[in-house]
Amino acid sequence: MNYNKKTVYDVDVKGKKVLLRCDFNVPQDKATGEITSDKRIVAALPTIKYLLENGAAVIACSHLGKPNATFESFVKKQAAALKPGQIMLLENLRFDKGETKNDPKFAKALADMAEIFVSDAFGTVHRAHASTAGVAAYLPAYSGLLVDKELSIMGKALDDPKRPFVAVLGGAKVSDKINVINNLLEKADTVIIGGGMAYTFKKAQGYEIGQSLLEADRIDYAKEMIAKAEAKGVKFLLPVDNYCAAEFSADAEPVLCEGNIPDSLMGMDIGPKTIELFSNAVKGAG
Ligand code: 3PG
Repeated sequence: MNYNKKTVYDVDVKGKKVLLRCDFNVPQDKATGEITSDKRIVAALPTIKYLLENGAAVIACSHLGKPNATFESFVKKQAAALKPGQIMLLENLRFDKGETKNDPKFAKALADMAEIFVSDAFGTVHRAHASTAGVAAYLPAYSGLLVDKELSIMGKALDDPKRPFVAVLGGAKVSDKINVINNLLEKADTVIIGGGMAYTFKKAQGYEIGQSLLEADRIDYAKEMIAKAEAKGVKFLLPVDNYCAAEFSADAEPVLCEGNIPDSLMGMDIGPKTIELFSNAVKGAG
C-alpha cells in the first residue's frame, strides 16, 4: 500500500457492527432482471470474508441503478439483532431520496446501525452520496480490500509508472472523467479513449456522429484536451472506425463506419482498425 488511507487491517473488527458500502450495481437483463455479470459481487467477497472471519457483524449495502421509487421502512431492529459472523444486505439505497442528496439525516440513520464504516464500493467512491461520503462524518471510516487493491495499483502506476505509460478510458460520460483526463495528460505517454465518451471527442474533432452518445456541453472541454495532448506530446488515441447500428438492440444489423457516422446510426463499438490501433499501443505499454 502506498497511500495514506486506513484499511480494514488497521482496526480490530471483532464483535463490531460494520456498515459495508459495496458496489453491487450489477448489469441486469432488461426483460428478466437476471444478473448478467457477477464480477462486482465476486470482487466484494474478500472484504466480506475478512470481516466475517474476524468476528464482525456486517451490514452490507449498495445502490442499484437509478430507481424512481422510495422506501420508508427501516431495518434498525434487524441490524441490532445481527451477531458476529452474520451478514445482512440492505435494500437498494437509492430507494431513499436522501442517498444521492447526501442527506445528513439518511447518512446518520445508516451510521446509527454500526460502529465502523468500511468503504469498498470502488466503482462508486467518486460519488458524494450519504452511504459513500456522508456516513464518514458519523463513524470511523476505513477502506475495504477492493478499494485498497485498486488504489495501490493506481497509486503505483501514477507515482512511478513504467514507461511508456498508457491509460485506457471508457464509459459513457465525459463529465465523470473530466479531472481524470486532465490529470492523466500530465503523466501518461498515451491516452486511449474508447466507449461511449469517445463520440464527444470525435464530435470535437469535427466528425459527424449520428445518434451516438454525446455530451454537447463537453465538446469545448474535449477540444481543450485534444489540444493539451498535442502541446504536451501525449498520444491521444480515438476510434478511427466504429460498428454502428440503427438501434440499441442485440438484433440490430451492425454497420461499419469509418470517419463520419450517418444521421440514422449510432456508434456501438470500435471497429477492426481501431482494435489494431489500440492493441498496438497497449502491447507496447510499460
Ligand atoms: C457505476 O456503475 O458506474 C457505479 O456503480 C456508479 O453508478 P452511478 O453512475 O449510477 O452512480
